[in-house]
Amino acid sequence: MNDSAHPALGIGICGLGTVGGGTLALLRKNKDEIGRRVGTELTLRHVATRTPKPDITAGIPTVSSDPFLAAEDPTVEVLIETMGGYDPASGVIERALQNGKHVVTANKALIAEHGNQLFKLAASQGRILAYESSVAGGIPIIKALREGLAANRIDWLAGIINGTGNFILTEMAAKQREFGDVLAEAQALGYAEADPSFDVEGIDAAHKLTIMASIAFGMPLNFAATYTEGISHITPDDINYAAELGYCIKHLGIARQTAAGIEMRVHPTLLANNRLLAKVNGVGNAVLVHGDAVGATLYSGPGAGADATASAVVADVIDIARQCVAGAERPLMPALGYREQQDLPLLAIEDIAAEYYLRIPALDRLGVMAKISSILEGHDISIEAVIQKEASGEIVPIVILTHRAAERQLNRALSQIEALDDVRGCINRIRVEPFHGEAA
Ligand code: HSE
Repeated sequence: MNDSAHPALGIGICGLGTVGGGTLALLRKNKDEIGRRVGTELTLRHVATRTPKPDITAGIPTVSSDPFLAAEDPTVEVLIETMGGYDPASGVIERALQNGKHVVTANKALIAEHGNQLFKLAASQGRILAYESSVAGGIPIIKALREGLAANRIDWLAGIINGTGNFILTEMAAKQREFGDVLAEAQALGYAEADPSFDVEGIDAAHKLTIMASIAFGMPLNFAATYTEGISHITPDDINYAAELGYCIKHLGIARQTAAGIEMRVHPTLLANNRLLAKVNGVGNAVLVHGDAVGATLYSGPGAGADATASAVVADVIDIARQCVAGAERPLMPALGYREQQDLPLLAIEDIAAEYYLRIPALDRLGVMAKISSILEGHDISIEAVIQKEASGEIVPIVILTHRAAERQLNRALSQIEALDDVRGCINRIRVEPFHGEAA
């Protein structure tokens, strides 16, 4: 029963997979509490699902197999899109907005790659397109960037924003497990994307980083400009060498605003063991945000899974419902960038500078280390630490940690080193982040 003065708000859900199913369950489980917080009842009126699930859709007035029917349904005021993918999700969201509905989506790929047009449509319709659950699962990072930190100039943000990747790296490091075995477990637990290469190749993290950077720096979404490197080239040896040097390896998304422009990059990263992000394990996500007024702030929590993601989806629905109850004519949730045009230069990965971990597959010959050092020195790259193991075969890996160097110079040096007779195969390079200014 709805005892409040405001009529109940009709909710539709398109897609009953991990996130949609979790959302439906959460709306039911906390129905009374949510109703009290909003000031009216949220009523499930329409669920569209490709696979019939009568056990969980019982009692919902309309259950269909066509998401466009939910986008047309006049009893639905807020449509939740949890189908994922680009098509038909994009068309369904457009149709719902054109029909005057607010939309909540968990679809990071769609927002990162096509969000600029969708937000324009939402604004022209005076409707909200909300996407909290698209980044870092249950952590309210979008709200923090958009609202809590709105007074700051954001200098940089960095996060572990793919739960599957963090789960894999954690298990490999802690239990010496095989990559493929841990990935299979992440899939079974509902953490991984339908195509898990999105997780391991960094595409999923790049979608999320693109969205956060757009809000943080007030610019349009620029997915194509986000440098993306996965974790599939990280070996147990790299994890062990990093540990010997006092580091762990995390898959990070980093966005930074400098005098030269904007960096947006996703790649495996060496972090000293005492850094905050180094302590985030398993499916956990965490984002460090540095604002000029507040300094460093950390947001941490579960980054994937049905319940955690549903928490963020339903929070968006509650935000929208509160505005509807308050009677806002054109409800407002500032979308993304406040600049329509990209007026800050976007930097390529060759334009950055970092410290580097290098694993060089070299022959066990006298003088090889001297040749490598001389090439590095010739490119203004100085060495901070070296590990050289006893040869167990023909190849002996030389592991080097460099001081800060320009990536463009490093690329030139690595090409010369790889061309040496004494070096066999590709050098594995992993960037190192010191995070100066982090309140560790
Ligand atoms: N596959 C994603 C992850 C799901 O592992 O983080 C949450 O976005």
